[in-house]
Amino acid sequence: MQNFDFYNPTQIIFGKDTIGRLAELVPSEARVLVLFGGESARKNGTLAEVLTALGDRHVQEFGGIEPNPTYETLMRAVALVRRDGLDFLLAVGGGSVIDGTKFVAAAVPFAGEPWQILESFGAKVSKALPFGSVLTLPATGSEMNNGAVVTNKALQAKLPFRSPLVFPCFSILDPQKTFTLPESQIANGVVDAFVHVMEQYLTYPAGGLAQDRFAEGLLQTLIEIGPKALATPNDYEVRANLMWVATLALNGLIGAGVPQDWATHMIGHELTAAHGIDHARTLAVILPSLLTHCQQSKRAKLLQYADRVWQLKEGDEQGRIEGAIARTRAFFEQMGIATRLADYGLDQADIAPLISQLEAHGMTALGEHRSVTPEVSRAILEASL
Ligand code: NZQ
Ligand code: ZN
Repeated sequence: MQNFDFYNPTQIIFGKDTIGRLAELVPSEARVLVLFGGESARKNGTLAEVLTALGDRHVQEFGGIEPNPTYETLMRAVALVRRDGLDFLLAVGGGSVIDGTKFVAAAVPFAGEPWQILESFGAKVSKALPFGSVLTLPATGSEMNNGAVVTNKALQAKLPFRSPLVFPCFSILDPQKTFTLPESQIANGVVDAFVHVMEQYLTYPAGGLAQDRFAEGLLQTLIEIGPKALATPNDYEVRANLMWVATLALNGLIGAGVPQDWATHMIGHELTAAHGIDHARTLAVILPSLLTHCQQSKRAKLLQYADRVWQLKEGDEQGRIEGAIARTRAFFEQMGIATRLADYGLDQADIAPLISQLEAHGMTALGEHRSVTPEVSRAILEASL
């Protein structure tokens, strides 16, 4: 097992009717900015519940954080916090709102142009405001991790950053809040969580026996409950499991002490930045082609995945590997997510600009062996058409 340093200070409050706990979780003298997305939090009553729980604290609102939150929008929130001397942020929404709030938390005290936070992938963050979250969409794990992804519209760049200073102080996870999600977002959430596990599992054996079995358990749970989350949308137990699995998929636990890949995500971010394709859909397109292309270096783990996750125990090794990749693709399709670039209207001519963007963003040595060069990314994208 590799050496690791595991740190996760986020308090999780999980279960039915837990938003009222904000009354004790947010410091009583805090000057709070509540950040949210479009209209969903207001329409489904979550925002009103949050405001009630905050009682007579000083509270201001900032709505309009878009899916794939933009630097341009978030800088307006930064200006508001600075102008009005607010000192506590509360995100109400999905990954985009929580990620956006992490950026605002780090940008408010940042000396200099805050885009440097993204350009340095978080290395330049030395201070951040405290913040909490009320999660309304199980998918990204942002509610219990220290990463965020921000899009600069002007530069057409979608870049991640990470810092130990941007873990949420707490996150409230009430699975009932997912009942209003459209099917497409539930499907996105299942696939995003699945690929988060794969990025930390499907590399090469590193002796992380518990990490592997934990990862396999999360994958099997997603395969079991994903279709049920679509078929029986008001089933609390299914939504509760989905919410907790998505959090566990990316809270650092299964990735501690093992190699990680993340090439699928980095290539996917370029597809979102250039073509506006939902994050999870980009992953569903790239992962099967990446596993096929990189099957030699991932061979041992692919065989383990075939055996333990898909119970493929018969036949020759090549057949089991191909079977596992085919089942992965079929699972995404079963969730209603198309897995070919052509399904999103892209063709061969779209690939060269994506490679240029990967190069411009320094994404030239991706994967657990740093062997996913721009040429390899090109081959993966071509195989995804
Ligand atoms: O904007 P509103 O009106 O609120 O609608 C949102 C949005 O349109 C809607 N929604 C959220 N909760 C709802 C709801 N609609 C009805 N009922 C509810 N309860 O869902 C839409 C999508 O929301 P969004 O937050 O964009 O989705 P998601 O949670 O999938 O987040 C995606 C973002 O997270 C980043 C992605 O790159 C993308 O920008 N990621 C963040 C990660 C992290 N911080 O660790 C890791 C991930 O790999 C990912 O990259
Ligand atoms: Zn993701």
